[in-house]
Amino acid sequence: MKSPIETFTNWVKTGRDEGMEKNHKEPVKKMIELILSSNKQFSIIDAGCGNGWAVRLISSNKNCLVASGVDGSKLMIKKAKKIDKKNKYFHGDLNNWIPKKKVDVVMSMEVFYYFEDPKSLISKIYHEWLNPGGQLVIGLDFYFENPDCHNWQEQTGVSIMKLLKINDWIKLFKKVGFKEVNKYQFCQNKSWMGTLVIQGIKI
Ligand SMILES: C[S@@+](CC[C@H](N)C(=O)[O-])C[C@H]1O[C@@H](n2cnc3c(N)ncnc32)[C@H](O)[C@@H]1O
Repeated sequence: MKSPIETFTNWVKTGRDEGMEKNHKEPVKKMIELILSSNKQFSIIDAGCGNGWAVRLISSNKNCLVASGVDGSKLMIKKAKKIDKKNKYFHGDLNNWIPKKKVDVVMSMEVFYYFEDPKSLISKIYHEWLNPGGQLVIGLDFYFENPDCHNWQEQTGVSIMKLLKINDWIKLFKKVGFKEVNKYQFCQNKSWMGTLVIQGIKI
């Protein structure tokens, strides 16, 4: 079994990171619509940004003042910086990385279940990353109510993958202090229960 960061570093080596843009783009576009509907002008960090494609996507919006991405894989960040000179990318482990300046929005796609203690990450983001009034929006394809994903840990050999229920994620957001916690399931079809999106506001 390999750690999540080692696994995704290997994906960059084989170009597999680019497949994530293809597979995650539609739900991420919907996450971005959510963000745009509740923000006039905003600063944003993509937590676990991979090669930075979603940072580039949201930064093209006129209301996005500052966009940056952080990822634990050096190779992901190297690739992001090579492609994009406009936005900022940081190499860091989300377990302990803290931004120099707090932001209005933290978004994240397919990252939060790669943690032993997702509550601690959510809490850190609440207290140390977000401005008052800011929001956290995370997308997850790996969750209990989506049976298609149940064999992913076996398939990928990643050491940490937490298969939580929708309500578990909602409870974690609420326990940490987020208000107006909403959930969405974007891009559902017959056998696919959609990308679970949890949004919470820091009042
Ligand atoms: C499934 S990929 C998603 C990447 C990107 N969000 C996307 O949609 O293309 C998960 C990402 O989380 C990063 N990651 C996993 N654990 C991490 C940690 N503890 N700290 C920072 N990044 C981490 C991996 O390096 C990888 O780039």
